[in-house]
Amino acid sequence: MCGIVGYIGSKDCVPLLINSLKRLEYRGYDSAGLGVISNGESQVIKRKGKVSVLEKDLDQITLKQPNLGIAHTRWATHGVPNEVNAHPHFNTDKSLFVIHNGIIENYLTIRKGLQSLGYDFITDTDSEVIPQLIDSFLKKGYALVKAVHLALSKIEGTYGLAIVYANEPDKLIAARKGSPLVIGVGNNENFVASDVSAIIAHTKHVVYLEDGEIAEIYKDKFYTRTLDEEIIDKEVHKITMTLDEIDKGGYDHFMLKEIMEQPLSVCNSMRGRLIADKGTSKLGGLEAVEDKLVQSKRIVLSACGTSWHAALAGEYMLEQHTRIQTEVEYASEFRYRNPIISPDDVMFFISQSGETADTLAALREAKIRGALVLGICNVVGSSIPRETHAGVYTHAGPEIGVASTKAFTSQLVILALITLNLARKRNMSLIDGKNIVKEMDLLPKKIEQILKLNEQIEEIAEEFKDAENFLYLGRGYNFPVALEGALKLKEISYIHAEGYPAAEMKHGPIALIEEKLPSIFIAPQDSTYEKIITNIQEVKARKGRVIAIASESDKNIDSLVDFSIKIPETIRMLMPILSVIPLQLLAYHIAVKKGLNVDQPRNLAKSVTVE
Ligand code: G6P
Repeated sequence: MCGIVGYIGSKDCVPLLINSLKRLEYRGYDSAGLGVISNGESQVIKRKGKVSVLEKDLDQITLKQPNLGIAHTRWATHGVPNEVNAHPHFNTDKSLFVIHNGIIENYLTIRKGLQSLGYDFITDTDSEVIPQLIDSFLKKGYALVKAVHLALSKIEGTYGLAIVYANEPDKLIAARKGSPLVIGVGNNENFVASDVSAIIAHTKHVVYLEDGEIAEIYKDKFYTRTLDEEIIDKEVHKITMTLDEIDKGGYDHFMLKEIMEQPLSVCNSMRGRLIADKGTSKLGGLEAVEDKLVQSKRIVLSACGTSWHAALAGEYMLEQHTRIQTEVEYASEFRYRNPIISPDDVMFFISQSGETADTLAALREAKIRGALVLGICNVVGSSIPRETHAGVYTHAGPEIGVASTKAFTSQLVILALITLNLARKRNMSLIDGKNIVKEMDLLPKKIEQILKLNEQIEEIAEEFKDAENFLYLGRGYNFPVALEGALKLKEISYIHAEGYPAAEMKHGPIALIEEKLPSIFIAPQDSTYEKIITNIQEVKARKGRVIAIASESDKNIDSLVDFSIKIPETIRMLMPILSVIPLQLLAYHIAVKKGLNVDQPRNLAKSVTVE
């Protein structure tokens, strides 16, 4: 949520910052800005809208070869998205620029205090107090680093900060509390960014800042300190992500590319983790805690958004096969109802980004209460994997489209691998374990087969693109899929959609059924099939239109529904990995046909780092 990038070195940093900023647009895109410094002179430019709007006006920068600068793409919290509220924010003489990701909780108190000293505020943001507060310490004669330390000691809330000052043009300051930041270590140049994708074109060496750390970055060295000014040595990590992985690779949108990548991403999530002859799985990241996991009496899965839907499917998997009591919690609600968590409990936190503030906060709460906390995350080195006791990476590869697709199917794969591992150690037979391994192995091929239905799904999208409401219905393992299908449509097409357990339809939503309301049934031939067919008939009897996601061997369903999308079968536990794919494609095509920005839907951000 909000993208930050900064540069110090010898190059003209303007094009570099803009290109890096574009890679961070998934974090917010309502306004963008740039502050640069050259030979002790400073210049700032901000625009409402996407980075491309800012880019068109870069010729207004008159400074020659600025080699120090910071840039920001915003997701508004305080103050409407406009030019004034865009970052960088600055002090009165515009010598000091600050960009901020997070929320300053005591900004009103600080603002009042500064106003009484004669400071004027021109924005509606919480962030503007930061440059003004630092300025008040600079005016007292402190050097920049000390002034930043003093200012941060007065600030309550969360921040990822990048700061530059025209009077000290040899350094760039970064600080972190609650919002992610990495330092990119280059050759006679250094970077700071919200995540590595922004700087990967320039360096593969990064340092992850932790909460409560401040970095003083020069072009050829950097120092990190705690808020109490103690120097800390930081490890430099080498990242393996490549530039190709974060490009569109010939597709019109990242979302489509990521949907189409699923045979590979699912394969990567399983790679080296299935042991065919033993009918089980091996998850290196969990080995150290395996005993506690196997013996646990209760597992709690917690997450937000799409990851929460994966957690719900995970609950079904774990309960069916391991018989360990499993619960699912919205991370955003967890802390607000005095949850019963004991040291005997195991909690998994599931997150694509590894940075979702609500999920991190729930994790910290569970840790305080003594639970074993484990992560299932996609972004390597992100906050959640760094704060959990152990965990598993999904290895889905970078996901840029704001609507999550391949990360979801990979989360389901990991949950299935964990289930298999635990079940085999508890009560599952070798034959059953081997059957799950066999079915998991077949998933990439079956996904390929489903992706071939793209054109058929596009035609269905044409038929329904003008509907104003949709119902998504499924039973058992297909209920989380119904929720996820509805969320995908809402997120990118702005059509109201509800996911519901199919059996619950008759207790309310059935009142909505009429010709104009399409219902999507996830109806593979599993143990709930007969019942779901009854629900389809209930809808048809009320003139509702029905699209069914059905098994390829199902010959009967065509006569009952308006459209059927036939997909290969697998065992129940793995069915969501297949049945969600047509729903991802349907949402994608409807949004494209409506002319909407699929990769950057309005009001959303991929990584939500505010609570
Ligand atoms: C945001 C995104 C969703 C995502 C959710 C959780 O709301 O828009 O697509 O599912 O955050 O994100 P996480 O990174 O924790 O999986």
